[in-house]
Amino acid sequence: MLAKVLTGAVVGLDGALVEVEVDIAPGGMPNFLVVGLPDAAVQEARERVRAAIRNSGLSFPMRRITVNLAPADLKKEGPSYDLPIAVGILIASGQVEAEPGGVLYLGELSLDGSLRHTPGIIALVALARERGLDTVYVPAIDAREATLLGGVRVMPVPTLGALVAHLRGEAPLAPAPEGEDLAAGDDERPGGDLADVKGQEHARRALEVAAAGAHNLLMAGPPGAGKTLLARALPSILPAMTRDECLEVTKIYSVAGQLPPERPVVRQRPFRAPHHTISHAGLVGGGRWPRPGEISLAHRGVLFLDELPEFGQPALDVLRQPLEDGHITISRAQGSVTFPAKVMLVGAMNPCPCVRKYHSAESRQPGTRDHRPAPGRQGAKRRRPAEGPPLPQPLAGARPASGGVPGAPRHHPGRDRGGGRCGQRLDGRAVGERRERPGGYPAGAPDRAPGGTALARVAGGCGRG
Ligand SMILES: Nc1ncnc2c1ncn2[C@@H]1O[C@H](COP(=O)(O)OP(=O)(O)O)[C@@H](O)[C@H]1O
Ligand SMILES: [Mg+2]
Repeated sequence: MLAKVLTGAVVGLDGALVEVEVDIAPGGMPNFLVVGLPDAAVQEARERVRAAIRNSGLSFPMRRITVNLAPADLKKEGPSYDLPIAVGILIASGQVEAEPGGVLYLGELSLDGSLRHTPGIIALVALARERGLDTVYVPAIDAREATLLGGVRVMPVPTLGALVAHLRGEAPLAPAPEGEDLAAGDDERPGGDLADVKGQEHARRALEVAAAGAHNLLMAGPPGAGKTLLARALPSILPAMTRDECLEVTKIYSVAGQLPPERPVVRQRPFRAPHHTISHAGLVGGGRWPRPGEISLAHRGVLFLDELPEFGQPALDVLRQPLEDGHITISRAQGSVTFPAKVMLVGAMNPCPCVRKYHSAESRQPGTRDHRPAPGRQGAKRRRPAEGPPLPQPLAGARPASGGVPGAPRHHPGRDRGGGRCGQRLDGRAVGERRERPGGYPAGAPDRAPGGTALARVAGGCGRG
């Protein structure tokens, strides 16, 4: 007997409809074959499905079973085909009736028949909505993620046994309630708060300007000056994400398998700080099945490259085009996928020893590229790509706020901050500045402003302690 069940494959960030055809042929040696360009994880589905059906109190037919995943030219990866294959076998062997209407089944089975967290659920629910399907069966643990979009009935499935009882009409499952309100996000700000930064007035101002205009930013200063601290505080002064931005970012994290089921919505602007040993595929996305890279995981947020010169010229060149375009297209023989990549790029670097001249009164040529060769891994050769043209005069001339900083008052959230450059108050102002801009940016979208990168010289000897 033949059964057909619908499911979906994630291609890039989008879903593609996949039909699972199950044929159970009478006679012959018992066999279980999966065809239709399945990868290793889909092949292993056979063992999981067999055990899950048996352990759910159902019978696994000892016949010749052929499962075809159509269209056959689309590569199938991952374990999300377990549930549709199991349902197909149960329908084909006459143990349950097929549900009428357009129904999509998604989910990975564990051997005891329960359903596990599956990546890419939101992308596949979006597909079901696009194709006008009525119902999507998802693992119960992923129901919150599945209901974010709305517009399609989501049925949370705890176990294969519960689904069978539902399809037989013995114990109907309840549809998941409406999705949560994305605007009503928690106020928890991960990372630092600008209010925790002492002194560093000019660097904080640079951060404000960059946040208001969504400019990229390069910070240069001696080790321990607070560059990393400042960069981590940047998301705290960026405007909150809109509903659509939340969904966009959530989809990327879901497809990348980085969305924890207990927190199925990304509400805070992402802050990604990859180590400089990262591969190009890790940075901009790639792999045999193209996955989003750090630049896409930082979409609508901040990509922080600490020790920027250590990344090396090739890695920085790889970032060039996606930073310009706001997206990255990865091409493979089978086709190409596009991931969004609208980020604020923040770099931090230590100055070359010759940069000490900036801080001295006798410095006559601030920003000169005339380097003294520096020893060790931060040598002039590797630092050069990050330097670019001489620093603009006002910034290059900025002196460490020596006298004032050590005793600078520490800012605390909730207190008056004389100038208001603390996270909370600045938040409002940064939003305001960005929205007031003539011909401005879409609310809260860190689209690139013309004018390139701001440079901030982070003074050494800041007021720690
Ligand atoms: N202006 C500052 N206010 C408060 N703490 C600071 C400041 N500058 C540096 N620190 C502290 O000093 C340490 C080193 O700072 P870090 O940001 O890692 O420096 P860098 O990245 O420039 O080497 C951190 O623990 C940070 O909290
Ligand atoms: Mg640092």
